[in-house]
Amino acid sequence: MIQEAADIIKKANRVTAFTGAGISVESGIPPFRGENGLWSKYDPGFLDISYFHSNPLESWKLIKEIFYDFFGKATPNKAHYGLAEMEKAGFLDAIITQNIDNLHQKSGSRKIFEFHGDSRDLVCVSCGKKYPVTEIGLDNLPPECTNCGGVLKPDFIFFGEQIPEPARTNSFREAEISDLFILIGTTGEVTPASEIPFIAKENGAKIIEINIAKSSYTDRITNIFLQGKATEMISGLVKELREY
Ligand code: APR
Repeated sequence: MIQEAADIIKKANRVTAFTGAGISVESGIPPFRGENGLWSKYDPGFLDISYFHSNPLESWKLIKEIFYDFFGKATPNKAHYGLAEMEKAGFLDAIITQNIDNLHQKSGSRKIFEFHGDSRDLVCVSCGKKYPVTEIGLDNLPPECTNCGGVLKPDFIFFGEQIPEPARTNSFREAEISDLFILIGTTGEVTPASEIPFIAKENGAKIIEINIAKSSYTDRITNIFLQGKATEMISGLVKELREY
C-alpha cells in the first residue's frame, strides 16, 4: 500500500497535505477526540469566544496550561520532518493544518496554511494589535495590550470565531487545484476545515489517508488508507520516494 501511495505521489502534479491533531500525538500532544483526548479531560467551553470575553482570567488559566506550558514544549516528530523533506524534494506543494502547535514550521516546512490560526502571536481584542507571545510572557493573566490596556487572546480561532484570512482562501483554492490530498491524523468532524478534503475529491483529487483508525473520510472519499501511526507511514513513504 505504501508503494502504491508513493507511486501516486510521484505521478501527481500538485500535492497538498491536510493535517490534524493526530500528526502531533507522537510529539506528546494529545488529540482532542478519541483515546485520552483533551475534550475527555477538559470541557471545550473555555474556548468559546463568548466565554473568553466574559471570563478572560478563567479561560486564560486553561489556555496557558494546555497550549503554552504543555504544547509549547513539544518538538516535531518524524512525520513533520518527513513532510518537510517531501516539500524540499518537490513531492509536496503545501500543507493545510488545523493544528496551532507550530510543529510544521519548526520542522522546516515552508508553505503552510494555518486554518485555525497560530499560537505564536497574541492579539488585542480591543485594538487588534498583535504581539509575539515570547515578547509578552504569560506570568500575569490575562495578558494586557500595552497599546490600549485591552485583553490579549491567542491568535488562534476560538469556537464561534471566523476562519482567518488568507488561510481560508488559500486552503479552499488548494482544494480546487490539487490532484492529490494526503490526509493525516484528523477525524474530519470540525467544519469548515473538514469540508476541504471533500471539495478536493469533488474536483477530481485522489485521497491518501494516514490514520490509526477510520475517520469520517475513510469509507467515503479515501482511495488509499494507510492505517498506522503518522511517523511510521510517512517515514515509509519518504523511503520509497527517496529511491525515486
Ligand atoms: N498517527 C496518526 N493518526 C493519529 C495518531 C497517530 N499517532 N494518533 C491519533 N490519530 C488520529 C485519531 O485517530 C483521530 O482521527 O488523529 C485524529 C485526531 O482527531 P481530533 O482529535 O478530532 O483532531 P482534529 O481532527 O485535528 O480536530 C479538528 O477540532 O477541537 C477542534 O480546533 C480543534 O483543530 C481541531 C479540530
